[in-house]
This record gives sequence, C-alpha cells and structure tokens, in this order.
Amino acid sequence: MTRDQRLWKFRLRLLGAFGIGMLPGLFASPAIGAQQDRRVECFDLGDLTTCPPIDAALNYVSEPSDESGDCVQQEVLGRAPADEGTCCYAVSTAYVCDYIDYDGNEDCGCYGRPYVVDSEVVSAPVIANAAWGPGEMPSPALERLTAEQRAALVEFWSDNARAEHSSIAGFHRFALDLFAHGAPPELLDCCIRAAADELAHARICYALASHYAGEPLGPGPMPLGDSAPIARTLVELAVATAREGCLAETSAAWLASEMASRASDPIIRQALDRIAREEAEHAELAWMTLRWAIETGGPEVRHAVAEVFADATPTRIGGAALGVPEHGLLEAREVQAIVDRGFRELLVPVMQAAMAA
Ligand SMILES: [Fe+2]
Ligand SMILES: [Fe+2]
Repeated sequence: MTRDQRLWKFRLRLLGAFGIGMLPGLFASPAIGAQQDRRVECFDLGDLTTCPPIDAALNYVSEPSDESGDCVQQEVLGRAPADEGTCCYAVSTAYVCDYIDYDGNEDCGCYGRPYVVDSEVVSAPVIANAAWGPGEMPSPALERLTAEQRAALVEFWSDNARAEHSSIAGFHRFALDLFAHGAPPELLDCCIRAAADELAHARICYALASHYAGEPLGPGPMPLGDSAPIARTLVELAVATAREGCLAETSAAWLASEMASRASDPIIRQALDRIAREEAEHAELAWMTLRWAIETGGPEVRHAVAEVFADATPTRIGGAALGVPEHGLLEAREVQAIVDRGFRELLVPVMQAAMAA
C-alpha cells in the first residue's frame, strides 16, 4: 500500500469511528462500537478502458465472507489514490447484526496518550531492571551499528518505553473518566484493551532499549501522587479526549506507521507495525468517545471540542540529530515533516468533517 493510500485509509477509519461516511448520505452509521472494516481495495484495469464509477465498483471489489449472511453491509465510499493502470476504492464493510464481539475481537486499538496531570506528562524513570529487560524477544541486528548510533537508539527506545509505560496509567485513568460519566460498555471494553496494548508496547520498547544498551532496562516507580485527576464534567472529558486522543494519538499513530515503513530491520519493522496498528485503534477509540460525548452532552460539549480543534496546530516534536531509520530512529526534521503532513492531510479533514456533521 502506498503512503497516500495508508493516509487515506486511516482518514476513513477515523471518520468511521466518529460515525460519518465519506459521502453525505451514502453510508448509514452503525452504532458506536459496531464492528466495521474500512479499507482501500485496488485492482488492475484489465479489459476496462477506465475505472468503473463508484456505484458500479461494488462488482469489482472482493466480497465479504458468506459466513456473515445478511448481517453484512458493504459499500464503496469513494475513489482512492491509484497508480496508473489500477483502480482503487474506499470500501466499508459493516457487520450490523451481532456487532459486538466480546470474544477475541482485537479491533480496539499509545504511543501518544500518556498519563497527564495539570498538562504535565507523568512517567517513570528508566532504570536497570531485569524484570522488563529483553527476555525472549529476539535482538535487532547490532553488528553494523556504531557506538554513537547505539547510544542514540538506547535513548530513542527508552523514551518510547517511558511514554508507552505512562500510557498504561493513562488508559486506566481514562477508564475511570468513562465510568464516572456513564459511558457505554463498548467504550470501556476498548479502553481496557488499549491499556493492555500499552503494556505490550512498553515491554517491546524496554526490550529493544535493553538490546541496544547491552543491559536490561525498565521503569522505576511512577510518581503518581496521591490522587487521580478524574474529569469532573463531560466537557472536561471531551476536551481531554480531543487533545490527548484525537490530536496527539492520531498524530503518533501516523508517525509510527511512517517509521515502520522506513524500518528495514525485521525485528524493528515488526515491532513498529504492531505499535502503529494498535495506536491507530486507540485513535479510533478517541474519535468514538468524542462522538458519544457530543451525542450525550449536546451543544456545550460540541462547542468546547470545536474550540480545541480551532486552536490545534501540528505537534512540535523534538528529536534526534542523528537518524538510524532502519532501526526506527528518524532525524528530527523528518519526524516534523511527517507530523506536519499528518496534521494537514489527516487531522484537518477529519476535524472539519466531524465538526460539520
Ligand atoms: Fe496508544
Ligand atoms: Fe502504545
């Protein structure tokens, strides 16, 4: 899948999570938490002289499995960017009968949503800690790395590990916010799964940092204080979700997928692919939460969220002067260019569509 197609697909998923289709009226929104697959499908032109119009394209894309019976609705939502000689379409498949699969549905998907108190990220220090070290995780190839590159990679993967570890607490606090405001079970389900994803991400990142360091690294005690800052109102919950989830985590998920696309070391690629996939699911959770909060809280919540989006700017990300892209580490300039593009082409259209819906 090309970069444009990945970006397009991610945009579709976020719009779907917020409950809107690409084209007005074409796609009836399934309920919050409905199991829904949005994808980009491409096929060669073959005997065709031009790509079929949207209303005929359903005949050319793959069919949903028979097992779903009448419970499946498939629609072509629009054209997607395509290479010459191929046709690409955004396709939505929604499972509308028994849409909540409590057994093994992994469609809930931080890299970008740490534990925040008074706008400050709270995270644990990185210390020598054999409990979190590499364990069974295979090592990336270290032979060709200079000492300087290895040191930069220790710092990079340790920073990621701190953020991921902080996100475990972040999603537990978010679950308390959801409890406090009577959120539906689908959102709680996704939130609890997201906390488990973040634990897995933290373990992966500490294991990688340990490999580059040549010693086991892990978190020390986390300075949580003596109380958790629970959102007092639905407006507070929605504003925090818009900032930390819809903006920050969407941006982080896009960055992780771009890092994955540049990583040639198979261990790193696999790790970043997983993190990117699950972070995208966490971003979807944020947009689903926003939809619920606006539906529940009405104009006051919508207005507060619109103000957050109106003031939004691309995240400024510090970064390394030294890039080792095959091991996930990109130069600061490249990171900022990725984040800026994600803001322009992913977040701005989704924010505009969400506030116009
Ligand atoms: Fe996340
Ligand atoms: Fe994560």
